[in-house]
Amino acid sequence: MTEHTRANSDWYPALTLARSHWKIEPPTDALKDKVILVTGAGDGIGRAAAKTFAHFGANVILLGKTREKLEAVFDDISANTSTSPVIVPADLRFLSDDNAMALADSIQDAFGHLDGLLHNASALGLMLPLAHYPKSAWDEVFDINVTSTVLLTRHMLPLLDLSSAASVVFTSSSVGRKGRAYWGAYAASKFAVEGIMQTLADETETANRIKVNSLNPGGTRTPMRAMAYPAEDPGTLPTPEERMDIYMYLFSALGRSHHGEALDARDWTPSPN
Ligand SMILES: NC(=O)c1ccc[n+]([C@@H]2O[C@H](COP(=O)([O-])OP(=O)(O)OC[C@H]3O[C@@H](n4cnc5c(N)ncnc54)[C@H](OP(=O)(O)O)[C@@H]3O)[C@@H](O)[C@H]2O)c1
Repeated sequence: MTEHTRANSDWYPALTLARSHWKIEPPTDALKDKVILVTGAGDGIGRAAAKTFAHFGANVILLGKTREKLEAVFDDISANTSTSPVIVPADLRFLSDDNAMALADSIQDAFGHLDGLLHNASALGLMLPLAHYPKSAWDEVFDINVTSTVLLTRHMLPLLDLSSAASVVFTSSSVGRKGRAYWGAYAASKFAVEGIMQTLADETETANRIKVNSLNPGGTRTPMRAMAYPAEDPGTLPTPEERMDIYMYLFSALGRSHHGEALDARDWTPSPN
């Protein structure tokens, strides 16, 4: 057992169980001392990512809407690893330049730099035909899924630039790559996210310090999936922890060959290192 995972390896049974399905076997110190900001870290895929990153040694910055959920993740990580998590309760709908700048300043003070940014938080919005989609609901989805993503990225870039090997991952969706009836603002926002990823990847290509990709997790057993598909049996879906191999890949040294790519957690092949 390494120093940063002082608890027994059973602190996170869902991860232990999932790892037998992973396509990669990251070393236990794969993310040691990395600093990674995860949005939507209180639930679903973001919670699994935060806990997994901490398990592999990262100091995670847990951003999310509901303070109690973030505190539960914080307590779990603090009790079971030697990493230093931080919680940032924030509603991304109302993220301002000032808020994002203040967050960057506090990360700078606490850690001096940032190695990873996982844009994971999202709003599903309404399932309606475009002909009936209300502007207020449209704006809310775009504020959370698109505008806050750009703002956060913008203010985190100087900190990411200070990392020797940084990674930014934008969370996409199948409907962000091919539109589908009734997915309205959510689908359009994910197309926007793909465009933001491509633009940023092009802008950071020459310096080659920050890797930028998008990732579609695919159908995963989370509250959002249950909301989108209420009749589906969640037991038929992979757990968030089963999806974590590609997240580990993209935030560790293993996946550094990828840049500007639209990846899919259900169908990917690790590059030989
Ligand atoms: N699950 C799937 O099958 C699936 C498939 C394709 C793509 N995705 C994408 O994967 C990502 C994670 O999805 P998920 O299924 O894990 O979703 P989830 O279970 O709904 O979790 C989303 C997280 O985002 C947070 N969040 C939502 N609105 C926020 C806001 N305004 N400000 C701050 N935090 C906010 C939520 O916080 P609270 O819990 O505090 O509200 C929650 O922790 C999303 O980008 C989603 O589009 C998921």
